[in-house]
Amino acid sequence: MSENPRPVSLDIEDWSVTYAGGKKQVRAVKNCSLSVARGKIAGLVGESGSGKSTLLMSVPKLLPAGTVTGGRIRCAGQEISSLGEDAINLWRWRRIALVPQGAMNSFTPHLTIERHISEVLNRHLGSSKKECAEKAAELAAMTGLEKGALHRYPHELSGGQKQRAALSVALACEPDFLLADEPTTALDVITQKDVLETIVSLVRERGMGLLLVTHDLPLAAAVSDSLVVMKDGEFVEHGPPREVSRSPRHPYTKKLVAAIIDMESGT
Ligand SMILES: Nc1ncnc2c1ncn2[C@@H]1O[C@H](COP(=O)(O)OP(=O)(O)OP(=O)(O)O)[C@@H](O)[C@H]1O
Ligand SMILES: [Mg+2]
Repeated sequence: MSENPRPVSLDIEDWSVTYAGGKKQVRAVKNCSLSVARGKIAGLVGESGSGKSTLLMSVPKLLPAGTVTGGRIRCAGQEISSLGEDAINLWRWRRIALVPQGAMNSFTPHLTIERHISEVLNRHLGSSKKECAEKAAELAAMTGLEKGALHRYPHELSGGQKQRAALSVALACEPDFLLADEPTTALDVITQKDVLETIVSLVRERGMGLLLVTHDLPLAAAVSDSLVVMKDGEFVEHGPPREVSRSPRHPYTKKLVAAIIDMESGT
């Protein structure tokens, strides 16, 4: 009987990121390690400035020139952290896609949503106009975006529609791994829940791996297979969500959990 092959994973190993461009060096990520397998969700929570976005952006090497990194990142066993710009570009979107923080405000104003999707497909897969239109319609159906929204400009969409559009762009090339940076922040509670449910079911159905950044510990605990709490650039807690939220070990996580319990009990 053949053994199950090891699942394809994104492995971040002893990873550090230092911004070196300005007057002062900022060590934003310090010796962090994390693995996300395809089909699994890792939740990443932490206070503002703890390094969550830096970590996400560093995976597909989207940080400013001059940023110094240490450690190693592997995707499906291949080291990607040492790749140059041309080589990493082959991984971006196709294997690893990002929904950046504030994605809904970073569309190009004079391009329709379909054009945003087509540009990615054309640039990375060389898709024809017809293929792009077909794929855009398929993506809209997948992410719950009304088909008509594809032909509108970003400012003509609601926040929730823009988030679904950003998700459609990220999923255009059918990546193995999705890095989503606060994809539901700035939406009302109901829309947040709807968009998150869409993301989670797509991840499960398509067997993608998801690294999900959120400020919301209960939400992360509810949807993730593993949970990481970040503070001052370090992973201070890492484990199954139940364990992390039921018996937090680090003082920061204890405070976070206590604040949630206070909120829930109305004290
Ligand atoms: N381009 C940059 N140059 C220098 N320092 C930066 C840069 N971008 C972020 N930083 C610093 O790196 C640290 C981590 O920032 P980061 O944006 O990763 O935090 P975050 O956890 O995503 O915060 P938030 O929850 O507010 O989005 C902060 O101290 C921030 O000021
Ligand atoms: Mg951030």
